[in-house]
Amino acid sequence: EKGGYEHFMLKEMYEQPKAITDTFSPRIKNGQIEIEELGMSNEEIRRIRKIMVVACGSAAHVGHTSKYIFEGLSRIQVDVDLASEFRYRDPILDDGTLVIVISQSGETADTLAALRESKKRGARVLGIVNVVGSSIAREADNVMYTWAGPEIAVATTKAYSAQLIAVYLLAMKFAHVRGEISDEGLKEMLDDLQALPAQVEMLLNNQENIQRFANRYLAAKDVFFIGRGVDQAISMEGSLKLKEISYIHSEAYAAGELKHGTISLIEEGTLVVAVLTQENLYKKMISNMVEVRTRGAFVMAVTVEGNTEVEKAADYVIYIPETNKYFTNSLAIIPLQLFGYYIALGRGCDVDKPRNLAKSVTVE
Ligand code: F6R
Repeated sequence: EKGGYEHFMLKEMYEQPKAITDTFSPRIKNGQIEIEELGMSNEEIRRIRKIMVVACGSAAHVGHTSKYIFEGLSRIQVDVDLASEFRYRDPILDDGTLVIVISQSGETADTLAALRESKKRGARVLGIVNVVGSSIAREADNVMYTWAGPEIAVATTKAYSAQLIAVYLLAMKFAHVRGEISDEGLKEMLDDLQALPAQVEMLLNNQENIQRFANRYLAAKDVFFIGRGVDQAISMEGSLKLKEISYIHSEAYAAGELKHGTISLIEEGTLVVAVLTQENLYKKMISNMVEVRTRGAFVMAVTVEGNTEVEKAADYVIYIPETNKYFTNSLAIIPLQLFGYYIALGRGCDVDKPRNLAKSVTVE
């Protein structure tokens, strides 16, 4: 059933090109994005005043990514909340608010409670869900499925990647309907979107190099992931992938926040993973990398092809191919998933079933 792979997690990572394709292809027709299951007219899309994205864990990391994408592309204000916080914080929402709940299992107790709370307060709820017919899928006003197929490994990979695609499609649709992007702009983005599966495939094929690098860090005590903007959201997911399966402590930090605390934890040899996929932030990131490196950190960078300037501030660089600036998460996360996987493998951890964790969290 693992199809020749040592673990479900590895198999599911390799299924990502397909999960991505299966999630976008039914929604692109004649060069336009059609999301029938959204159940919203163009008029209703124009009337959205605020989006609230509510989820847990990796799905919440997709939420953090979505803030940059929805705001950047469609100019709709976005709040992102952990479901366990949202449900008890008396959130402000009304009929101009679109609540988007994101969940692989569709059964996460806090996310389901947040959905019910939102409906009670008069907001419209859209679910981005992987498991067909799950509780969240049944109770949401509308549901957009991620077509990742069954995910068995506790650490999510392909469902996460499919959730990102759902967010890109929604943001592009909203932006186009609201006149924030032109027909030409939409066409270019769709071309970049459709190029992602092959690019992900290429990054997966770099596994040997990543395994070799990971094997040098099997005894790491702490790892820090830093990024700015959408790269901070990518860092959060990279950090979670590593810690949940390898049991190595790791933290994601907004790079600009380093000097407000975390930098005091950097010692000789501490591994810092710097994610820099946003051209307008390269310079700022490079200076943060120099700061940690001068304090003894070993810096691994994930950046976009062509940004060779990064080499002066990094000890090891992984390049991702060029894509639209809003889609970089889909590519940058691949080496980070592989990194977490190979560290856990090298440490002899139970990769598919990390201790204390459940695939579906049905109690709060
Ligand atoms: C991490 C992971 C969890 C889930 C979280 C939400 O790899 O899988 O953080 O993302 O428990 O689960 P769903 O998406 O089923 O609501």
